[in-house]
Amino acid sequence: MQIGIDQLAFYTPQTYLDLTDLAHARDEDPDKYRIGIGQSEQAVIPVTQDAVTLAANAASQIIDQDNRQQIAMVLFGTESGIDNSKSAAVYLKRLLNLPDNLRTVELKQACYGATAGLQFAHDYVLLHPDKQVLVIGSDIARYGLNTPGEVTQGGGAVAMTITADPRLLILDDASAFHSEDIMDFWRPLYRREALVDGRYSENVYIDFFKAVWQDYQGQTGRSIADFTAFAFHLPFTKMGLKGLRAILPEATAAQQETLMQNFEASRSYNRRVGNLYTGSLYLSLRSLFDNATLHTGQRIGLFSYGSGAEGEFLSGTISPEFDSKSSQQWFEHFFASRKQLSVAEYEAVFNRQLPAHDVLLDTSDDDARFVLKGIQHDQRQYLDRS
Ligand code: HMG
Repeated sequence: MQIGIDQLAFYTPQTYLDLTDLAHARDEDPDKYRIGIGQSEQAVIPVTQDAVTLAANAASQIIDQDNRQQIAMVLFGTESGIDNSKSAAVYLKRLLNLPDNLRTVELKQACYGATAGLQFAHDYVLLHPDKQVLVIGSDIARYGLNTPGEVTQGGGAVAMTITADPRLLILDDASAFHSEDIMDFWRPLYRREALVDGRYSENVYIDFFKAVWQDYQGQTGRSIADFTAFAFHLPFTKMGLKGLRAILPEATAAQQETLMQNFEASRSYNRRVGNLYTGSLYLSLRSLFDNATLHTGQRIGLFSYGSGAEGEFLSGTISPEFDSKSSQQWFEHFFASRKQLSVAEYEAVFNRQLPAHDVLLDTSDDDARFVLKGIQHDQRQYLDRS
């Protein structure tokens, strides 16, 4: 049976920061950010959006009357959870008006959470081919003003439906994974910003990638020649380039050219959004789908990495029903209608924190369908403007 990603939608708010402006404000060469880091813009997330509303704004694009009754589980990958007990998935389920006979769970392992969801969903659909699973990756990446990580912030959500006979990517059965308890990036419960050992985290990312790539090749007998493209977890797009370069010598010159071209296609959206933690790999996959020329049966490799740390290499083939560039217009419109913030405006948004007590927020600047309108009796109050 063929199981995989049937639909893949994305959402992030319309406010963004141009990283050339940030470079000037931080007394850095803009080329360090544009080329050295590989980012040109960064999504700025207002206080009226959280992991739940970001997810609802993404998922509402792919949940309709046709598939609502078929969804059996909501698996919500995030490291920006809003509650220590309730899962973000159960809030999302209400906002999307999903039926009550389903499972709602939050999954956490840094940026790896959505991949765990994808694989658990795959196994569930294998047993229940008439059902669908909604998998979410939704996060806000925060490092702090004037830190080396600042240029790698961002945020947003991806929503995917995992089904039998999928229209986008058919997942292969083989995958290779590796986990170790290490401290490259973490966020203690009392902190809103991540702590990170930057260079070390880059080295672990590459070491894990090489380990799972080797394991995957041993399991399957496949080599780099079997792949048309690779999509990477992109904390910043240069990181994926470093990953690709680590295995590129294994390819012929012609294959190297194709893989590099497709890598450029896969980082086009991420360059302009920044890190969205759990969703980054899947935004990159969406970018590849929309900006590369892909054909039925071609194999795509995916490297998922979550600090702390877990890495997985998985793969899939392009579905016969693949509708190339299906969301390209959505992204063109989205990028064209964004509102650029000055560095001072971005800093003001960044510093705006939710108080630890009841509050009513001004949502007039946020045009999203789902917004956080405040906190009442310690309960988040959401608004659906549809
Ligand atoms: P830094 O120290 O400011 O930057 O921090 P740098 O000095 O290392 O420079 C960065 C690159 O720019 C270098 O290239 C420079 O040579 C180049 P590289 O050696 O890396 O190839 N450069 C220039 N290029 C062109 N023109 C110039 C110029 N100047 C310098 N003028 C760092 C960079 C990534 C460490 C920092 O931003 C950081 O700590 N980021 C956050 C951590 C991170 O993203 N780690 C990635 C791996 S871990 C991961 O992916 C998981 C994560 O998503 C979290 C999760 O799982 O939940 C983060």
